[in-house]
Amino acid sequence: MQTHEIRKRFLDHFVTAGHTEVPSASVILDDPNLLFVNAGMVQFVPFFLGQRTPPYDTATSVQKCIRTPDIDEVGITTRHNTFFQMAGNFSFGAYFKRGAIELAWSLLTNSVDDGGYGFDPERLWATVYYDDDEAEGLWQEIAGLPPERIQRRGMADNYWSMGIPGPCGPCSEIYYDRGPDYGIEGGPIANEDRYIEIWNLVFMQNERGEGTSKDDFEILGPLPRKNIDTGMGIERIACLLQNVDNVYEIDLLRPVIDIVAARAPRGYGQGNHADDVRYRVIADHSRTAAIIIGDGVTPGNEGRGYVLRRLLRRIIRAAKLLGVDDPIMAALMATVRDAMGPSYPELVTDFDRINRIAVAEETAFNRTLDAGSKLFTDAAEATRAAGKSVLTGSDAFALHDTYGFPIDLTLEMAAEAGLAVDELGFRELMSEQRRRAKADAAARKHAHADLSAYRELVDAGPTEFTGFDEMTTQARILGIFVDGKRVPVVSHTGRPEPGEESASRVEIVLDRTPLYAESGGQIADVGTLTGTGASSTARAAVDDVQKIAKTLFVHRVTVESGEFVEGDVITAEVDHNWRRGATQGHSGTHMVHAALRQVLGPGAVQAGSLNRPGYLRFDFNWQGALTETQRADIEQIANEAVQADFEVNTFLTELDQAKAMGAMALFGEAYPDRVRVVEIGGPFSLELCGGTHVRNSAQIGPVTLLGESSVGSGVRRVEAYVGLESFKHLARERALMAGLASSLKVPSEEVPGRVATLVEKLKTAEKELDKARLANARAAAANAAAGAESVGGVALVAQRMAAGMSAADLRSLVGDIRGKLGDGPGVVALIAEGEGGSVPFVVAVNQAAAARGLSANDLVRVLGAAVDGRGGGKPDLAQGSGRNAAGIDAGLAALRAEIARD
Ligand code: SER
Repeated sequence: MQTHEIRKRFLDHFVTAGHTEVPSASVILDDPNLLFVNAGMVQFVPFFLGQRTPPYDTATSVQKCIRTPDIDEVGITTRHNTFFQMAGNFSFGAYFKRGAIELAWSLLTNSVDDGGYGFDPERLWATVYYDDDEAEGLWQEIAGLPPERIQRRGMADNYWSMGIPGPCGPCSEIYYDRGPDYGIEGGPIANEDRYIEIWNLVFMQNERGEGTSKDDFEILGPLPRKNIDTGMGIERIACLLQNVDNVYEIDLLRPVIDIVAARAPRGYGQGNHADDVRYRVIADHSRTAAIIIGDGVTPGNEGRGYVLRRLLRRIIRAAKLLGVDDPIMAALMATVRDAMGPSYPELVTDFDRINRIAVAEETAFNRTLDAGSKLFTDAAEATRAAGKSVLTGSDAFALHDTYGFPIDLTLEMAAEAGLAVDELGFRELMSEQRRRAKADAAARKHAHADLSAYRELVDAGPTEFTGFDEMTTQARILGIFVDGKRVPVVSHTGRPEPGEESASRVEIVLDRTPLYAESGGQIADVGTLTGTGASSTARAAVDDVQKIAKTLFVHRVTVESGEFVEGDVITAEVDHNWRRGATQGHSGTHMVHAALRQVLGPGAVQAGSLNRPGYLRFDFNWQGALTETQRADIEQIANEAVQADFEVNTFLTELDQAKAMGAMALFGEAYPDRVRVVEIGGPFSLELCGGTHVRNSAQIGPVTLLGESSVGSGVRRVEAYVGLESFKHLARERALMAGLASSLKVPSEEVPGRVATLVEKLKTAEKELDKARLANARAAAANAAAGAESVGGVALVAQRMAAGMSAADLRSLVGDIRGKLGDGPGVVALIAEGEGGSVPFVVAVNQAAAARGLSANDLVRVLGAAVDGRGGGKPDLAQGSGRNAAGIDAGLAALRAEIARD
């Protein structure tokens, strides 16, 4: 059964049972604790926790999941994927254990004709949490499982949570026995390769707190309702139903293995275990990389970007170790697209972007590898010249550090060169570097050298924020830090010369401040600190304000004159213009959010936002682009709400109370019990928010949407200007239009019509041009046919065509020429130096030639071999493409010889 069919049956089964089908969320959700979505239930967490009311009481989905902690297992075991599809059914207080077991059992064991998967019930096993008598009883009653096929396991195996605070509960897993070829008997507790886990039913009933491991965390208490969260591994089911040995050989992954095998000197499944693992790594990682890029990640050196880079580099390295030296990424991405496209259309629509990013990483890494190879050869020669046989640890480290050479690549290359590597020395240098990097990272984090330096102040209590009510506040200096070290005093030392490194990082902590610290998407205020009394000459510009430990406001300043002393009372003041713009930006964000939900409905869930004076951007979960009308509606509703001059009210209340009022909160954000609510226009906009806002909505000024774009599949972004920035933007647009009108010499309102006419004219001209080209080509064909040579009784046209001709040009010509060769045996072979270094070629054979045993398919291979390419097609018409134009003449000669030989 094909994977797409397995997905479909799952969804059909649960939709028939009344579940609402919900699309997969992006693999990136706005939860700082979660690198990637790793389970189907993640998008439903607020429903389980009772933070939001689900619009349905049961749901089903097939969620894109990424799990990279097991990356080293990939290809080695039969069942680990870094990307997999988790099919799930969810009940939010509707059914519980009985319903979950009944529904899972019927889908697994119903016959294929009945819409099920047709598993043999005798081969299925279940596990339950060690004290879950109820689940064990249900398995016996519903599935007729004998007690010996129901095993009990502890918390590490049968108590599920996301690994972070959130919903959790005991679970029951379903296993399939693959038979004695796969290991010893004794059920899942004895061997998880033979007994392969296919489905996990979680009885989601509690909430967990912090913890240290899978079986060590605090249970905070019961959830408001008893829920069900299940996850079935589509790839594992496919592996079983397609009767293949491992998940890398199922219909979605095997094509990647095959495309690599077609290019590698050593094939797949030929008895070389290390090679087979490499093939599987490439198959697994290519798919994961395409999905992650599809959802908006680009390669980088930290977080998600690093995961992606690591996957891509592992692919390239594995391909190299398989002996594939040519670029391969584009072929891998295209294969993934073709295999996965039917279920994930974004891989098709976004293919160009995905491919571009993956190929760019390949090109960059290959350059690195090339440069590194030189270093390697030099080092290897030096080692040999010194009469040694071991490459030093520092050579291996230099290769790694400078050129990103993974150690196993160095080991492999050294082995080929007949050398060993001092791995121990290498590892020592690596850990030393890691220690340095850690120290470095700690130094950079929040730009604070040593957080413990601030600890005393953090413990002394929070900074009081006065900026909701006043712009100027008298405050006492609690601490001064220069480059992260506490100092008693800081003074003006003169500005650095232009081009000179900026001076030390100076930070000042006050007991109270009107300056807003960056948070909740609003960037920090700028302003000034001025001395009072004896130190009245002291003045500093505040460039940034950040919070430490969520409570301590740290002002990053440039001291402009005088000196600041710990204990001094000073005046802190917000830059008024800046703040006006900032409040417009933040209130504008709320307006756009509210308008967006009016137009799109509650499914448009906030995924992040950023605002600064005059500008805002807002990301939200949404499939597909917004229509022109939706955009116009959002803009209009937001501007009407501005025009209505709503009062902006803020108040503190209990979290539960705020939620009951329908205030919007950010998914995954941990809120305190008492929260601040910002209300604009009553029910129009109600959000939990700690930001600074205008007093009346009219102060926001006009809201101008700049457009809307994708920041990954399932996440869209709108951007807007507010206030004076809106005017400036509109003025720029007006000037542009005036410029266009004047160069087209029509009044502005006629510009669209004029442009349409011009485009139309251009199209007609292009068509004319095409016609002329075709006529020329036809004439060339007639000439070529007339000049056919006779080779062994075959009329042969074998020609190098004008540079720049495409495969399509050659195809249309080749048929024409063949038609003009007459009834005797005739062969046409055309080749050209195409665009971008490609060398397209086409061969056509007529009937009489075919009757003499000539095949276009064979001949095209002869050409291909000469120009480093390959090709294929049908016996009468075949084509291909190479990369080496220098081989064109030799190719045509070889072709002649081949025909003469026949
Ligand atoms: N959340 C559970 C899992 O990931 C079941 O969906 O295994």
